[in-house]
Amino acid sequence: MHEFKYKNNHLYCEAVKVEDLARRFGTPLYVYSYRTIIDHFFKLQSAFRPVDALVCYSVKANSNLAILKGLVDKGAGLDIVSGGELFRALKVECPPEKIVYASVGKTEKEIEEAVRKGILFFNVESLPELESINRVSRMLGKVPRIAIRINPDVEAGTHKFITTGKLTNKFGIDLKSAYKIILLRDKFSYVNICGLHIHIGSQITSPGPFVAAIKKISAFILELKRKGVSLEYLNIGGGLGIVYNQETPQTAQRYARRILPYLKKTGLKIILEPGRFIVGNAGILVTRVLYVKESSKKKFIIVNSGMNDLIRPALYGAYHKILPLRLQGRKFAALQKADVVGPICESGDFLAKERKLPKVKEGDFLAVMSAGAYGFSMSSNYNSRCRAEEVMVVGDRVFVIRKRETFDDLIRNEKIPQFLLGL
Ligand code: LLP
Repeated sequence: MHEFKYKNNHLYCEAVKVEDLARRFGTPLYVYSYRTIIDHFFKLQSAFRPVDALVCYSVKANSNLAILKGLVDKGAGLDIVSGGELFRALKVECPPEKIVYASVGKTEKEIEEAVRKGILFFNVESLPELESINRVSRMLGKVPRIAIRINPDVEAGTHKFITTGKLTNKFGIDLKSAYKIILLRDKFSYVNICGLHIHIGSQITSPGPFVAAIKKISAFILELKRKGVSLEYLNIGGGLGIVYNQETPQTAQRYARRILPYLKKTGLKIILEPGRFIVGNAGILVTRVLYVKESSKKKFIIVNSGMNDLIRPALYGAYHKILPLRLQGRKFAALQKADVVGPICESGDFLAKERKLPKVKEGDFLAVMSAGAYGFSMSSNYNSRCRAEEVMVVGDRVFVIRKRETFDDLIRNEKIPQFLLGL
């Protein structure tokens, strides 16, 4: 479900005409539908109600404070991966006992801060990291909870850059080594190893890989039980795919139906870490056509958003639908193939390749769909471009949730050494 639909040939976000937003706030502009975000959160939460799961939204997908606050207010926890994300989580008053912390490279400083705050648990990705957490907690006289991230060595069937559950990936610990660590847990007296974590990848559109991973981990949990090790938590990660083009991903209900039997058998408290599922289709990137350029070989639609605003096409060859904000007169018009490209000085700076689109002209607005996840959060200032404005629509109300950056923002932290100033 999402709230971006045409009414009278105009694209709307909830009850607001997107073109009005483009004119009022300028472009590039990220537009989010609050209702879609909350609806997706509730869908997942209710599908997993039979095990009373805690849904920890994955902050990296879109870390805007307004989105975090909206979700936390509805009862979501947060999945974080850095000190910066912890800072954001605390800013929106997420209860620390609803924060889980992954990442293969947590620094001692980051660990210390999270231990002090009393987060729910760390997802630990290696033995040296476990030793580091143990050392820091000894210093602080605390005993934080730990979930060991298992690398189940399953194929996620997604893009190789976002596959995380194979042994050739840097994530998690293989089952054998995890087993050894858990049996030696008395050696680590300043951590409480009480859970397991898996996250096998992102944009996974069929239940098979999830089932394979969960089967492996449940067998492992039973084996541990036989050895007298009882755990409290199982974090099944995120990874649920969404519709970008023609995908037919599982719904929350179907996903739950397939894995709930295994989860119930473990008897553990279940945590989920969805990112894309919640925000992916809840956001679009609105851009304006600057020029239409025809070469003898190709047609280019040059727009005012580039890989600095949305890097997914450049980085993963990702597909995002591109729709005109106005259908008038074009709905039945002949489609023409074009590359939709940004203004950045790289050939990899494209939003779409060889895409069939209705005829567009300078000044037209286009919506790059399904840009709510890993859109703004992966944006940059490359080519000294200011990051886009972000607005959130709630029914017929509109809220700016991040102002467009200014040139001053670009150079805010830069300094010219005195010697260069001739002083
Ligand atoms: N948990 C962990 C430990 C993760 O590493 C991730 C995502 C998630 C949860 C959330 O996954 P999701 O539900 O969103 O699939 N930039 C890429 C996606 C990278 C995902 C990184 N990890 C993209 O634009 O497709």
